[in-house]
Amino acid sequence: MSIAGDHRKADCMTSRRAKVFVLDMFHETSLAGNLQAILESSTGSTIHVRRESWTPDELQCGNGRFLDRISSFDPNAIFLIFDRLGSEELRELMAMICGSLRQPAIVISGGAEPDQIVEVLKLGATDFIVPPLKPNDVLPRLWRVLDQRRNGDPLAFVLKKKLGLEQLVGESPAFLAEIQKIPLVAKCDASVLITGETGTGKELCARAVHYLSPRSGQSFIPVSCGAIPSELVENELFGHARGAFTGAHAPQPGLIREANGGTLFLDDIDCLPLQAQVKFLRFLQEREYKQLGSTKTNRADLRVVAATNINLENGVKDGKFRQDLFYRLNVIPINLPALRDRKEDIPLLAHHFLAKYSRDFGKECRGFSPEAVAVLSAHEWSGNVRELENVIERAVVFSEGTVIRPDDIMLRVPRAVDLPASSESFRMAKARVVEQFEREYIEGLLKTHRGNITRAAQAAEKNRRAFWELIRKHRIDMDAIRTRWP
Ligand SMILES: Nc1ncnc2c1ncn2[C@@H]1O[C@H](COP(=O)(O)OP(=O)(O)O)[C@@H](O)[C@H]1O
Ligand SMILES: [Mg+2]
Repeated sequence: MSIAGDHRKADCMTSRRAKVFVLDMFHETSLAGNLQAILESSTGSTIHVRRESWTPDELQCGNGRFLDRISSFDPNAIFLIFDRLGSEELRELMAMICGSLRQPAIVISGGAEPDQIVEVLKLGATDFIVPPLKPNDVLPRLWRVLDQRRNGDPLAFVLKKKLGLEQLVGESPAFLAEIQKIPLVAKCDASVLITGETGTGKELCARAVHYLSPRSGQSFIPVSCGAIPSELVENELFGHARGAFTGAHAPQPGLIREANGGTLFLDDIDCLPLQAQVKFLRFLQEREYKQLGSTKTNRADLRVVAATNINLENGVKDGKFRQDLFYRLNVIPINLPALRDRKEDIPLLAHHFLAKYSRDFGKECRGFSPEAVAVLSAHEWSGNVRELENVIERAVVFSEGTVIRPDDIMLRVPRAVDLPASSESFRMAKARVVEQFEREYIEGLLKTHRGNITRAAQAAEKNRRAFWELIRKHRIDMDAIRTRWP
């Protein structure tokens, strides 16, 4: 497909004007030429492009002359095309360009390491684009960068920054090293892959990326890839036209459409079936897709944040995950440490949840006894922050004083077989019964609805997400349910 043809579909809604400077420091490829063609073919808007090639030496020796060239053109945005990132030389150049110019800088470079991309953002780049360049990707990103600049309210940004990150409790170096990437990543549009064991805060981080980003006014759509039966994944993501298959009486827009303008959060991305991976990769590259049973091409402009609790590189080695999709998603990785690897955060988190649940349940719990802190600190926390949160919630519910003591902390809820009824306190018995009830109720509903989570959640009058959380909390084996109650 020709670039101009491609772009006709990527028209901007209103007529707009911009001046863009393209600095090409990578002479061996056609990237700069492609970029210029995309920018100039933007129908419905006028983008005036000045494209110049400079070698790093020329730039360094005559930086005054280069800056003069840029300021005489007075662009609204600058594209910087680099061969490779990471050299000291490049770092200096970026610092010079971003430091001296007031315009937003969008960097384009192939084959960059994720750490190098984060560094480029730290040096002041506004966005980072991984080739191949596509009009449906480049143009919306350019307009967003310009809008952000026009509408940006520094005070609002500082406020949002506080709001977005203050929910993320933790001060350990291992945690901070990852969390500090969030504001940088948020301002750009690159895909983010969040990894970490279950309960380490992947979804919380994905939300922070969204709410700190220029897309925060649009939807954040979370999708649990593991919770959707594999044969329905494509339907959920891409939607379907009326009559696409038996029973498709009404059209369904699909989650990509719902996330248009905002952020699509693909949780447990490793569970995405191979066929859906192919289709999703095509969407990520072209920013276009077709609904099931439809020949019409739809466009969607969204940021993707994916998460997984496995090492996706192993998935690639085992042939379960496509390497090309992995690279597309892993532009910026955030690896959240397990709670046992940041034990110093346990008391902080415990106090955070204590305050939260005391408020929620109207209790007066104000702190932990030193022995209780010792119990919490010594535990393994295989369920990470989620497990800690559940334990503190239970402690608040069952505590009778203002201070949580070791006795209030039930790291493992005893089952009937573990304890003779006579030695069980009221509190323990109640916790056990509640847990057992939840598990049996959820399992029963799932069996009734043959593993269909949406229907089971509807029957329980709970939203699907909350229902899914319960499935996970009780480690209910969905595969077993679907196999035994097909
Ligand atoms: N750093 C943190 N500070 C405060 N709460 C956290 C933190 N990390 C996780 N949580 C809480 O722990 C629970 C699990 O987090 P979630 O983001 O769903 O984990 P994951 O997606 O990795 O399984 C949520 O209730 C979340 O709010
Ligand atoms: Mg999660």
